[in-house]
Parts: sequence; structure tokens; C-alpha cells
Amino acid sequence: MAIEDIKKGLAGVVVDYTAVSKVNPDTNSLLYRGYPVQELAAACSFEEVAYLLWNGELPTPEQLAGFTARERVGRALDPVVQQVIDALPTTSHPMDVCRTAVSVLGARHELAEDSSPEANLAKSVDLFAAMPAVVAYDQRRRRGQDVVAPRDDLDYSANFLWMTFGEDHAPEVIDAFNVSMILYAEHSFNASTFTARVITSSLSDLHSAVTGAIGALKGPLHGGANEAVMHTFDEIGIRSEESLDEAAARAKVWMEDALAKKKKVMGFGHRVYKHGDSRVPTMKAALDKMIAHYGRPELLGLYNGLETAMDAAKAIKPNLDYPTGPTYHLMGFDTPTFTPLFVASRITGWTAHIVEQAAANSLIRPLSAYNGVDERHVP
Ligand code: ACO
Repeated sequence: MAIEDIKKGLAGVVVDYTAVSKVNPDTNSLLYRGYPVQELAAACSFEEVAYLLWNGELPTPEQLAGFTARERVGRALDPVVQQVIDALPTTSHPMDVCRTAVSVLGARHELAEDSSPEANLAKSVDLFAAMPAVVAYDQRRRRGQDVVAPRDDLDYSANFLWMTFGEDHAPEVIDAFNVSMILYAEHSFNASTFTARVITSSLSDLHSAVTGAIGALKGPLHGGANEAVMHTFDEIGIRSEESLDEAAARAKVWMEDALAKKKKVMGFGHRVYKHGDSRVPTMKAALDKMIAHYGRPELLGLYNGLETAMDAAKAIKPNLDYPTGPTYHLMGFDTPTFTPLFVASRITGWTAHIVEQAAANSLIRPLSAYNGVDERHVP
């Protein structure tokens, strides 16, 4: 087979239809079930967007009330999951903890072997409700803190922050967190979603598919980039006494050096978007609000300095992980917790795709061209 016939990384290959979301790199737009993601981020709660991804329509007030009541029932940390998390070393990566927790939840689910559309939807909502407790508790135990019980008077985002930090947050912080959850929720056939669809295509179960998707998301070329962005900021050095311009100048020097050494700088570039990520302006606006709220202009200096230097050198634009990294840092999340936050959100998109794949399934099994040694025989 000719080398040009091989689509390395499946780049540019369309493998199926989806009605969940539409990414259009030419118009720099992203639609969830037809709605521009920017409009959803401005007007909706994450619960409404989750409902939309699964059901195809935004909920009526009655449907939303039923859905949020159902989500609140599943918020508490499963004691068996807590025991398993406690058995893991605090040096293990939080993404490994997430992956393990989903596996345990799957093995314990009463509908474990039922992959009907109804069972899959029920499992999706259960995972959506359960993940904040897992992510929050894992960060807390690393800090030597106990589990915090959920609060029924708070929405998903406010409760997530409450269970992580055990304190109330300002409305603008909850809003920025809600925006990040909405923007991370879905993005067509990215690597982790495709992983989930591949696993589903063998008629495996939903929790197995989500567990595999978490593994794919962990890598720094995908979701792990939000964590890696913060490592870049740390390597440059965050100096709270510094002005915006001083920080930007140091970031510029760092970027020029990194590019001269042919380093890949995480948080920049995208397989699909070549003129900028559709989600970045909305998330950058949320980051700007957090920088003002927490009074940390030096972080904006680092952000601007890297972005400007990358644009000047290679015209490569930031992706969503670039503004979310410093936003989560400002909110007080530990850096290794950033990608699990992505998991908590993307559970919605993954499971919407799992349901879609199962409804019109065909085993995903591509071909390969052999380039090993010619046939030979055992002497
Ligand atoms: N830093 C430096 N150079 C880059 C970067 C980057 N972040 N991204 C792309 N390039 C360069 C490559 O070195 C390559 O240059 P060359 O042609 O001189 O060799 C060129 O741009 C094309 O890059 P590819 O990696 O081939 O592009 P591809 O479409 O395969 O990769 C990817 C996209 C993997 C996201 C890439 O841009 C990258 O590694 N970025 C950093 C990781 C990252 O931020 N991932 C998050 C993705 S978004 C998300 O998950 C929410």
C-alpha cells in the first residue's frame, strides 16, 4: 500500500455521522445539538446542557426540575468508592483515581450488564452525578482533609466547588466554573470520544467505554494539556509582585527559547481548528473575570506573553486547555486535578456518543498495512 494512502492518526478521515455536535473550523463554530456553545455558556446551567446532550432538546422547567432532583440523589460519595480511593497512594495520578472510580462504579451498578438505551441513559446520569464527589474527595485526601457531604440547595457547579473546598464561592466564580464545564462537555470525534465509541462498538458496556475514554483523555496531547499549561506557568515562575508587562516579557523569552529547542508547548494547536479554537474566547472572558476577582494580573501577563510570542513565531493559536489551566489554578484546584475536572464535564459528551454509537452500531475495526519481516519459518 502506498504511504499516501495511509491516514496516519486518522487525520481528515470521516468515520461516521453524529447528531451530538458539529465542529466547523472554517467558521470557528461549535454547536451542541444545533445550539452555539457560546450561547449555551452564556444562558444555561451545566445541568441544562447535559440534558440537551443526552435528549437532543433543552429541558422544559418541569423536565429540568425532575433532572436536577435525580442528579442531587446521586451526589454523595459511594462508601465503597471511598474505600477504594483510600487504598490508592496519594502519589497516584488523579486521572488514575478517576479511571479506577468509574470502573468500581460500573462493577457495582445494578444495571451493569444492561446496555439498553434506557439503562445507558440511567448510567450516564448516575456517573454525571457521582463524578464531582470523586474528583473533590481525591483532591481533599491529598491535603489530609475529610470528605464533604453534598448540599441539595446548590446547583451542580456550586456543589462541586463546595464538595472540593468546603466553603461557599462568589457567584462569579461559580459562573466561571459552570462555563468551563459547558465548554468541556462535548467536541465530536476527539481521541477520547472515539475511544469510547470503539469500545461501545464491540457491544461492551458504558462504564468500560468511559474508563477507556479517561485513559485517552489523560495524555498531554489531549485533556492532560490543561495540567501541562500550569506546569509551563510554574516553570516560567509565577511572581505575585510582578506587573502584567514584566510577566509578559519573561513569558515571551521562555516561549522563544522553547520554540528554538523545538519543544511542543501544551495548550496551543489543535487537530481540527487551525485558526483558533471556537471555545477559547468564551473561556478567556471567564479567565479575565477570575483574574480581576482574585487580583492576579501577573497571570494574565504570562498568558498574554506566551500567546503573543507563539502567534508571532508560528501563528499557532491557544486551545481550550490554555485558559482553563490558569482559571482552575485561581479557583484553588491543585494542578493534577485539572484533567479530572475535564472528565467530570466530558462524561456527558462521551455518554451521548456511546448511546448514539449503540443505536446504529458497526464494529469499528480498521485495517493496517504490514511492514514487518517477510514470511519465514521456524527452523
Ligand atoms: N507547540 C509547538 N509546535 C506545535 C504545537 C505546539 N503546541 N502544535 C503544533 N505544532 C507544530 C508542530 O510541531 C508541527 O510543526 P512542523 O510542521 O514544523 O513539524 C505543526 O505545528 C503541525 O503539528 P501537528 O502536531 O502535526 O498537528 P496535529 O494536528 O497532529 O496536532 C495537537 C494537534 C496534537 C493538538 C498539537 O497541536 C499539539 O501537540 N498541541 C499541544 C497539546 C495540546 O495542547 N493538546 C490539547 C488539544 S485540545 C483539547 O484536548 C481540549
